[in-house]
Amino acid sequence: MESMQRWYEASQRRFSVRRYKDGPEEKQLEALAGMAELLRAHGVRIALGRSEEVFRPIFLWYGKISGTNSFAAIIAQKDAEPEMVGYVGEAFVLECTAMGLGTCWLGASYNKQTALSAVELSEGERIVCITPIGVPDEEYTARPRRSYEKLTGLTAEQFGELSVWQKRAIECARRAPSAMNSQPWRFHASEEGILVENTSKNFGYGRLDCGIAMLHLELGAAYCGIYGDWRKEKNGSLFVRA
Ligand SMILES: Cc1cc2nc3c(=O)[nH]c(=O)nc-3n(C[C@H](O)[C@H](O)[C@H](O)COP(=O)(O)O)c2cc1C
Repeated sequence: MESMQRWYEASQRRFSVRRYKDGPEEKQLEALAGMAELLRAHGVRIALGRSEEVFRPIFLWYGKISGTNSFAAIIAQKDAEPEMVGYVGEAFVLECTAMGLGTCWLGASYNKQTALSAVELSEGERIVCITPIGVPDEEYTARPRRSYEKLTGLTAEQFGELSVWQKRAIECARRAPSAMNSQPWRFHASEEGILVENTSKNFGYGRLDCGIAMLHLELGAAYCGIYGDWRKEKNGSLFVRA
């Protein structure tokens, strides 16, 4: 519960940091290693790594990361649900934010071979994404998101009539990061709860992105004292109020 409050607050400050002043302190890395252990679930785990080379650009300068050589790999077993990769990975990302550290989900712009040689994998595991970790050398930037109307299909007036917890949950989910900022989701509020509908494959990251939005949605609800469970639906995942 305490973590949920902490991560909710962190969700308001998180943004993708690509330029760093320095890596994390040893003490911070120890704390993050402890958190990584706690977060191991649903066939997903986080491993910390260090490498000078992992952020060397592969092509052009797209998404270049500089100033840190610390990273965390988000690792999934073969049968892990992509949503859970996003969900668990984002919890770690928000913990980094809460500690004052910057992060940036990376699916493409890093050297995969180098990451593989810096982190030990068990059989059946793969690295899905990594994130640099370090002291940000950038000011907070709120990157654009779709309007509430586009995200929910509701008019501003209808959105305003939703219950407080549903508005807070959708507001927090709207801040979720996604690959290329595609926001491959729609949120459908009903008596039963809120459905996170996956609207695009987003180059293979669509369901993972939705998992990130699911954690955010849950954090927004918990901020209002509302807890619940996730139920799998044909077109997405439904948060059902307990
Ligand atoms: C699954 C995933 C993969 C991503 N891959 C990359 C990447 O390869 N390179 C990069 O620079 N940013 C990457 N991003 C960061 C997104 O571009 C960023 O989250 C999005 O533009 C929204 O910006 P914000 O995080 O600052 O809110 C990725 C994000 C996610 C969730």
